[in-house]
Amino acid sequence: MAVLASRGLTKGEADGEQWLAAQNRGLRCWEWQSLGSRVMEGWDSPLVDLFFSNQYLQITTTVPSTSVYGFGEHEHPSFKHSMDFVTYGMFSRDQAPTSFANLYGVHPFYMCVEADSNAHGVLLLNSNAQDVTLSPNPSLTFRTIGGILDFYVFLGPTPENVIQQYTEAIGRPHMPAYWSLGFHLSRWGYGSIDVLKKTVDRMHYYDIPYDVQHLDIDYMERHLDFTYDKVNYAGLPEYLQQLKKEGMHNVVILDPFITKDEEPGTYRPYDLGEEMGVWVNNSDGITPAVGKAWPPGDSVFPDYTNPRTVEWWTQMCLEFKDVLDYDGIWIDMNEPSNFLRGQYPGCAVNDINNPPYVPSISDRSLAQKTLCPDSKTYLGEHYNTHSLFGWSQTAPTFHVAQQATGKRAFVLSRSTFVGSGKHGGHWLGDNFSQWKDMHQSIIGILEFNLFGIPYIGADICGFNYNTTYELCLRWMQLGSFYPFSRNHNAEGNASLVIMVSTNQSFSLIGTRPSSVRRRVCQDISRYASDQILTAAILIHLVLRVSRSRKHGGAVTDARGHKLPSSWNKNYATVAAPLSKIPLFIRGGYILPEQAPATTTTKSRLNPFGLIIALDEQGEASGSLFWDDGDSIDTIEKENYFLAKYTYSKGNLKTEILKNGYRGADTLKYNKITVLGLKLRPHAIALNGRAIRGDAFSYDLSGVRVVLSNYEKP
Ligand code: NOJ
Repeated sequence: MAVLASRGLTKGEADGEQWLAAQNRGLRCWEWQSLGSRVMEGWDSPLVDLFFSNQYLQITTTVPSTSVYGFGEHEHPSFKHSMDFVTYGMFSRDQAPTSFANLYGVHPFYMCVEADSNAHGVLLLNSNAQDVTLSPNPSLTFRTIGGILDFYVFLGPTPENVIQQYTEAIGRPHMPAYWSLGFHLSRWGYGSIDVLKKTVDRMHYYDIPYDVQHLDIDYMERHLDFTYDKVNYAGLPEYLQQLKKEGMHNVVILDPFITKDEEPGTYRPYDLGEEMGVWVNNSDGITPAVGKAWPPGDSVFPDYTNPRTVEWWTQMCLEFKDVLDYDGIWIDMNEPSNFLRGQYPGCAVNDINNPPYVPSISDRSLAQKTLCPDSKTYLGEHYNTHSLFGWSQTAPTFHVAQQATGKRAFVLSRSTFVGSGKHGGHWLGDNFSQWKDMHQSIIGILEFNLFGIPYIGADICGFNYNTTYELCLRWMQLGSFYPFSRNHNAEGNASLVIMVSTNQSFSLIGTRPSSVRRRVCQDISRYASDQILTAAILIHLVLRVSRSRKHGGAVTDARGHKLPSSWNKNYATVAAPLSKIPLFIRGGYILPEQAPATTTTKSRLNPFGLIIALDEQGEASGSLFWDDGDSIDTIEKENYFLAKYTYSKGNLKTEILKNGYRGADTLKYNKITVLGLKLRPHAIALNGRAIRGDAFSYDLSGVRVVLSNYEKP
């Protein structure tokens, strides 16, 4: 079948709610829809390859090339998938990253780059346990154990177009708060407010740029949601307020299990939830499913697909805001994780709990580490809705975070599904302090960009195991480019902040312009084993012990050093001492920069600079988006400033495209750096008036001009 675009999707048409509505209408058919308009050859599925029964649906299709990317959530060794009969299971699971295993989230979406470099994307919008096999023909075999074969085709033709079309259909990613692009620190097991305070003090002592402090489950009283430990963390509310006054922000963790075994009348989250009937139920649809997790006693599980649960959760989060003044919420363990195989007393023997085909998932079990498939949620059987648990918790948490803070919401969710990026970000889970994990984090981050969740990071320095000095240092260097940049590790392992405060890599966090991270967030487009290339910058990573690396491309050293002209479209060796990340700007781009400070609250008050990196023709362009960084809907309300810069024939021109942010009135540039000039300029003028000679300098080779200390742009 050659796919010819038949019609366009309207915004939100393919989001999870619509799909669930379709499920509930009992649609049982094979559907495909496409967005874009071109003829695409090579997606071919003869009907002999279609199986359609109640608990087993399978379809095989050829694909036009072996360049297939996506399908989540998995860890695997290269961004481009191997097509050598590799099978990926998809079923959300509390599972530390393990090669090829099904992990926390589910994204049955892939992008294929065709032989002529055109790209297309395909989504199979289905939440049942499923797997896909990639074969060398090249072909793909999809197998799912329920729902419908609901395919959406995104015709590109560029990879960027594919992702634009995909996020148009599933929901555009939310706009992150500016502070959340700063550096985050976390640790499971500070154990007390004293240790927390010492950690914060040490960060300040070393002047380490640091915006956000996370609180993991040990801040709670006996792991009970919506409480804090009044003995070990006495004074926590006041301390968080103090941090906020200093311009920092804080994030609290909440788990999705609520103990049912506190004294009646003493634990409001359970008492109110029980009264409102908000839990996932057993197969009878009446009695709550009871499992075991962190809190003492046994736990029940809120069913976020139930509007009553949303009311209960909203109420609890609002009340908790009066106890701990949080800025963001981290929702963990929402696969949902249960420390048993199904709830008590174990799963009944029936076709739902024991389907004829169990996809290629860990333990080949739908109940291991979670609830029995025949449990009941508001929207249907857990069998169908299991992988939607984290997704269904994310939107209500986003809305209550917005309501509680009055600001742009921060929600970090461990389990995600198609469309989760609209309301939350993600981290790659419980990785290990190993060089391999650091490398594979780049693949995970690129994949979540494909999935429409660009606010993504991995636990810097590794979560499990003790890290080492060199690994942690290099990981801090890489992590300073993660859109979500957080250093976090597990209880019992060495404190990472002791490790990193003895090295200089933190200076890199400070020198990184925030706009760089925003850019990486938006347009990572290519990646070659150890390089990340965005439109404007190339980051060369050191992913092994003590090695100098090679890199290529028409680039300019970010610090303006003259690069040999032989580097143009060539390979060269650059030094990568421990204190340095080789970072290059592509000629032709203008990047705004700002002097660093220890928080983005402070750094955003500093004057701007522009780095102008010229291409071969002596031209460059770029832009600056600037808003207050944390108010809601700034784009919709047009409360932002947008400037376009162009440099041509020795002239820099600024065009203001939008002037909707009042804070931009005080915007100042105090440094303009031009890289890659072929001739030393004789004079410099600003708006027609000559600038004094002492306001600018050339470097020795004359390829760089720096203009500084003047007031107006
Ligand atoms: C599992 C999470 O993945 C991890 O980040 C967290 O530290 C632990 N749960 C404890 O809350």
